[in-house]
Amino acid sequence: LPRVLSGIQPTADSFHLGNYVGALRQWVSMQEDHDAFYCVVDLHAITLEQPDPAVLRQRTLVSAAQLIALGVDPARSTLFVQSQVPEHAQLAWVLQCLTGFGEASRMTQFKDKSTREGAGPTSVGLFTYPVLQAADILLYQAHRVPVGEDQRQHLELTRDLAGRFNGRYGETFTVPEAYIPAGAAKILDLQSPDKKMSKSLPPAGCVNLLDDPKVTAKKIRSAVTDTGREVVADPEGKPGVTNLLTIHSAFSGQSTAQLEEHFAGRGYGDLKKELAEVVTEALAPVQQRTAELLADPAELERLLAGGAARAREVAGRTLAAVYERVGFLPPA
Ligand code: TYM
Repeated sequence: LPRVLSGIQPTADSFHLGNYVGALRQWVSMQEDHDAFYCVVDLHAITLEQPDPAVLRQRTLVSAAQLIALGVDPARSTLFVQSQVPEHAQLAWVLQCLTGFGEASRMTQFKDKSTREGAGPTSVGLFTYPVLQAADILLYQAHRVPVGEDQRQHLELTRDLAGRFNGRYGETFTVPEAYIPAGAAKILDLQSPDKKMSKSLPPAGCVNLLDDPKVTAKKIRSAVTDTGREVVADPEGKPGVTNLLTIHSAFSGQSTAQLEEHFAGRGYGDLKKELAEVVTEALAPVQQRTAELLADPAELERLLAGGAARAREVAGRTLAAVYERVGFLPPA
C-alpha cells in the first residue's frame, strides 16, 4: 500500500472548517487505500509562544480526540503525537544541515507569521519549522501528503531536501507528493473572503468544529456574500458564495453543479440557512464522540502511546539508515 503522512498543530481548542475541508476529510478517506500515519504536531506548536503547558497538553488530547471522532481509525491508521517520537527532532537536525539559509528565508509562511501583529519575538524554531515538517514526512517514506494549499511551499522544500539527501548520500528517502484537493484547498474566512479561514483572524469568520450549533449557524448567517443574488459558483466574481458552496459540497457530497441547480431561483439567505443545517447536523455526532473520548483521557493516552510505538518502528529504521549514511558511529 502507498504511504500517507500528514500532521496538524494543536494550537486551538478546536479545529476549523478550513482544516476539515482542506485536509482532514482527505485524511479519513485516504485510510481506505493507504498505509496512513497521522500526527498531532506539538513540536511545531511551540514555534509560537503557547499560553500555558497545561493548555498545550489538553489541546493535544482534544486534537487527537477530534481526529478519531472525525473518522481517523487508530486501529487502521497510526495516530500519534509528534513529541512522543524523538526521531522527528533527530532527523530535523540532519536536514537543517542540508538546508540553505536563503532557501529557508524564502518560506512565505515564516514571513507571514514572524511579521504578524502581536506575534512577539521570532524564534529560530519558527524559522526552521518547515525543515521539521520535512522530517515528519520523510521519516515515514510517505508517497502522499494531504494538505491545504498553504502547505504547498513546505512540500516543495521537503521534496528538494529528499532529493538533495538522496543525491549526496545515496537513495534513502521517498520523494513525496503533495495531495491538495482541487477547489477545496483554500477555504476562505467567512468575514474576509479574500483571506484563508484561520484562527488568527477574528472568530466571527472562522467556524470551529466544536462550536455550539447556535454559534455556527450565526457565523454562517453572517457570512459576507457578494453582489448579485444568484447562487452560482464563481471564484473570481463571487468568492464568498463560492466558498459557502464548497463547504456545502464537502458536507453534503453534492457537486457544485447539483447545488447550483438545487438553489436555482433562490437567494443567498436560503443557501446560508441550509448550509448551517447541513454543517451542524454533520458536526453533532463529531462533537459528541469527541466529548466521550475526552471523558477517558487515560484510554486516549493509551491509544496514542500505541500509535507512537508503531510510528517509532518505522521512524527508527529510517533514522538508522540516515545516521549510517551521514557517517555517524553505530548506536552505542
Ligand atoms: P495546520 O495545523 O495549520 O493546518 C492543518 C491542515 O489544515 C489545512 N488548512 C486549510 N485548508 C484549507 N483551507 C484553509 N483555510 C485551511 N487552513 C488550514 C492546512 O493546509 C493543513 O493541511 N505545517 C502544517 C502542519 C504539519 C504538517 C506536517 C502537515 C506539520 N508537519 C507534515 C503535513 C505533513 C500546519 O501548520 O498545518
